[in-house]
Amino acid sequence: MRRQLVAGNWKMNCSVGEAVQLATAVRECLGSVVGVDVAVCPSFVALQSVYEVLEDTPVSVGAQDVFYEDAGAYTGAISPLMIEGLCRYAIVGHSERRKWFGEDEQSTSRKVSALRRHGITPILCVGESLEENLAGKTREVLVRQLEGALGGSTPWNEIVVAYEPVWAIGTGKAAEADQVNDTVSEIRGQIGTIWDVDTARDIRILYGGSVTSENVASFVGMSEIDGTLVGGASLRADEFCQIVFQSASMRKKGALD
Ligand code: 13P
Repeated sequence: MRRQLVAGNWKMNCSVGEAVQLATAVRECLGSVVGVDVAVCPSFVALQSVYEVLEDTPVSVGAQDVFYEDAGAYTGAISPLMIEGLCRYAIVGHSERRKWFGEDEQSTSRKVSALRRHGITPILCVGESLEENLAGKTREVLVRQLEGALGGSTPWNEIVVAYEPVWAIGTGKAAEADQVNDTVSEIRGQIGTIWDVDTARDIRILYGGSVTSENVASFVGMSEIDGTLVGGASLRADEFCQIVFQSASMRKKGALD
């Protein structure tokens, strides 16, 4: 059975001191959380400090990105080797990386492979823009992104995929849960085509885009959605913890049904 994952993407927010404060508040409410996997993804400069706050708790640490080489003349880059002791997860292919830093299918694919070599679980983000959505190109875009990132590699059920429609990110306009469920089902089908059906069945697929404690239950109650990737709402410990608790209890209810 796929276990729910709630990951907080702190994006380019928080000084190191603020990140430690936020992580400490998360530790206070989630220090003994059960029934759900939880991760927070601070900036690179705060990774070590946040790791120390959350060490020995069920809350894992993730990076927001990574480069695909281990070492060398790559000014400004952070390698998987540098984060491997600290991070259980690393986000790759986020639409903000694609938009502001020119990332594409090829670099994302190399990042996925590099993380795999280092035993770090990628959270691979895919999703269409508003224009693509309105032009009926959602499926085409997702197929291209998934094929680009995963095609040519051997099946790996550890990877996590996050469906993040770009128009729902940071807008307060989350997608409709039943539509997300259908799209996630298509993503799973596509992974089944690229790899195989058994692997696709095991892979966790999250939803991201304006998730809050108000709407999270509608997403995690859906059969295909295995958790959430939370941006803005993860910057408030009380709100993030509410999201996690709701995800944990929803899972238990699902298991009893
Ligand atoms: P928001 O939750 O702020 O919409 O951000 C979603 C996101 O991009 C998570 O990676």
